[in-house]
Amino acid sequence: MKKVISVVGARPNFMKVAPLYREFQKYKNIEHEICHTGQHYDEKMSKIFFEELELPKPDFYLGIGGGSHAEQTGKIMIEFEKVLLAERPDLVIVVGDVNSTIACTLTASKLHIKTAHVEAGLRSFDREMPEEVNRVLTDSISDLLFVTEKSGLVNLANEGIPADKIFFVGNVMIDSLNNFIKKSESSSLCENLGLTKNKFVLVTLHRPSNVDDALQTEKLIKLLNRIGDERKVVFPVHPRTKKNWGDFGVIETLSKNIILTEPIGYLDFINLIKYSELIITDSGGIQEESTFLGVQCITLRNSTERPVTVDVGTNQLLGNDLEKAEKTALEVLNGKIKHGAIPELWDGKASQRIVSIMNKYLAN
Ligand code: UD1
Repeated sequence: MKKVISVVGARPNFMKVAPLYREFQKYKNIEHEICHTGQHYDEKMSKIFFEELELPKPDFYLGIGGGSHAEQTGKIMIEFEKVLLAERPDLVIVVGDVNSTIACTLTASKLHIKTAHVEAGLRSFDREMPEEVNRVLTDSISDLLFVTEKSGLVNLANEGIPADKIFFVGNVMIDSLNNFIKKSESSSLCENLGLTKNKFVLVTLHRPSNVDDALQTEKLIKLLNRIGDERKVVFPVHPRTKKNWGDFGVIETLSKNIILTEPIGYLDFINLIKYSELIITDSGGIQEESTFLGVQCITLRNSTERPVTVDVGTNQLLGNDLEKAEKTALEVLNGKIKHGAIPELWDGKASQRIVSIMNKYLAN
């Protein structure tokens, strides 16, 4: 019997581990456990995702919570090491690019425990993003690297990572989307918020580059209010944004067409994405989900680590030029849309490929 531990920490991790968990249930020779670091801890940022994604209660909960990057990363390492010493797994799986990802990879690697990174190879080439540092470091010490899009193969080759560690398998987050999109039709959120399907704009903003800066915030509010002149806008507010925009005192200056909500659960959220006319975001995952669903997306960042969403999908990367963003958004709402296609291997079967490869790896 082999033992595998999958790590989750923050909101974007849960939908990536759920399809892996489900796939591991088919392998009777592998015991699969889940460790939640507790990087995200609010009910609406964590617990609801376990329920909706049909994940079991985590086997280990580290209860780390917030803190500076060093504090968060350090605390996760100290607590995860205890789990690894007690459990001695044959493989640790990490997903994505959050602080829990690098912290747990580094801890396992120092104990000579093999590690697999799911969603490897993505690069924004912007080292000011904490996630970029997490990605580069995680990939450099992982034993197995599972890639979602072909740009990842090029990036890993350029960094000198041996080709026999790298597998182009598709996108586990799309596995979850594919699996749950039908169930999400039972959501009544659009109705409850008074939104007409395909006639509203969905906004999510939480990156430090957008919401930690007062001047950028002022410009964003102007953009949102202008879009609010044309359509209802729904904006589920991340804890970071809530805190900062609260401190800046700008929330009251938003027009009444901008509907602010608490963070939204998975099923309601994918339903909102599906029925948006346009999404304005700085998220990584939403760029991919909108591409898969063929929904128009404007990304307010200077770079994307997910270029396939721009090259093949419906995403437009507009940096922090908010005048251009306003012009493009209004054009989209007037029917000038970007046509897209679904990227290669985003077919809902990435987790099958990944677990099959891991099973062979563990047998050797
Ligand atoms: C983290 C990830 C980011 C990801 C985002 C998704 C890193 C470096 N960043 O950023 O890549 O896109 O999650 O949400 O790992 N907070 C709460 N309740 C919670 C979680 C956080 O109040 O459940 C507060 C924290 O205390 C902190 C702030 O929100 O003050 C930010 O949380 P943090 O985990 O530091 O980073 P995120 O901005 O969420």
